[in-house]
Amino acid sequence: MVFILHISVQNVLGVIVPKKEAESVRRRLLQSGLLLKDYQPIRDGDHVIFPVSSCPDGFECVEREFPVRKKKPRSLEEALREFLPEDAVQHVVKSFDIIGHVAVIRVPDELWDLREKIGEAILRVHPNVRTVAAEVGPHQGVFRVQPVEVIAGEPNLVTEYREFGVRLRLEVGKTYFSPRLSYERYRIAKQVRPGEFIAALFAGVGPFPLVIHRFQPNIRAYAVELNPDAYKYLVENIRLNHAEGKIEPILGDVRDVVPERYPHRADRVLMPSPILAEDFLDVALAATKPSGAIIHTYALGPNKDPFAEKEYEILRYFNEQGWDAKILNKRVVRSYSPRLDQVSFDVFVKKRE
Ligand SMILES: C[S@@+](CC[C@H](N)C(=O)[O-])C[C@H]1O[C@@H](n2cnc3c(N)ncnc32)[C@H](O)[C@@H]1O
Repeated sequence: MVFILHISVQNVLGVIVPKKEAESVRRRLLQSGLLLKDYQPIRDGDHVIFPVSSCPDGFECVEREFPVRKKKPRSLEEALREFLPEDAVQHVVKSFDIIGHVAVIRVPDELWDLREKIGEAILRVHPNVRTVAAEVGPHQGVFRVQPVEVIAGEPNLVTEYREFGVRLRLEVGKTYFSPRLSYERYRIAKQVRPGEFIAALFAGVGPFPLVIHRFQPNIRAYAVELNPDAYKYLVENIRLNHAEGKIEPILGDVRDVVPERYPHRADRVLMPSPILAEDFLDVALAATKPSGAIIHTYALGPNKDPFAEKEYEILRYFNEQGWDAKILNKRVVRSYSPRLDQVSFDVFVKKRE
């Protein structure tokens, strides 16, 4: 396969200028429009040779090979064309997450041997990306982490991501985090009233409670996380965002922590995990204030009708447990897979007398 047709030098007319006059002559050539900006000047002993379209009066000119300036590609597609054959360019997945300095991409199996070139193309077009990692499996296990492999740039997956002024440090591949849930975090944060007590279950590195705290600092929250790596960053992120004393990080299983530490205390319960949430509705109720509270729960539903079945199951479960329940709001958060959508439900619950 032929990858690159990149001509690095070309024969062009050059004006010879003594080194000490180089800067002033360069400016004059630029003003007069004679300087060819696509080529790099070359040094020759005590002289600099500038590439020009025609020889200016009073100067000596020669024909020389000038290095061609590498132009920054304007799009990923353009960058990929520098590195890959055309038919491969069409198969590269063009949308991917950027988490701080790390880009996380999915490389189709048929392009796996070209992964390093794809990574280089991404580095060329995104100046803030310093590491490109490829997914090497789906999100997995209870920690919901996704294994990745660095394919270009620095081998450093510890990164800092910013959202609404919130700083989030995390390690890609060892902790769960999705920038795609940014609006969902904002949407919930805007509902929070001063003085609320919040149970942030499945807290990860802390994005939900920290975005809430950013918009409504007058809260108390506890954030429970099982993955020790994620918990380490949760603690760090609470400190980085000056939320100590407001958000209490707890390492452990929500099923043990909630009933032992904070039974029936929360005005608002967050369960931001569509895979786990439905198996932990009992824990959500154990966290909830009997006089009335909001539970934000998540599920996966078929994209033709993602709500109906899950809504019915959630309401039935709460009712069976002796709680009145009403859906205040439901929405598709994002497409999860070709057939499934991630949906959210804001449910008001109140213990029946
Ligand atoms: C889908 S991630 C969501 C993380 C975070 N809320 C976010 O949006 O980035 C689910 C998180 O729940 C944690 N987790 C899984 N089971 C848990 C349990 N029983 N108790 C506490 N945390 C748990 C996982 O380690 C993971 O970090």
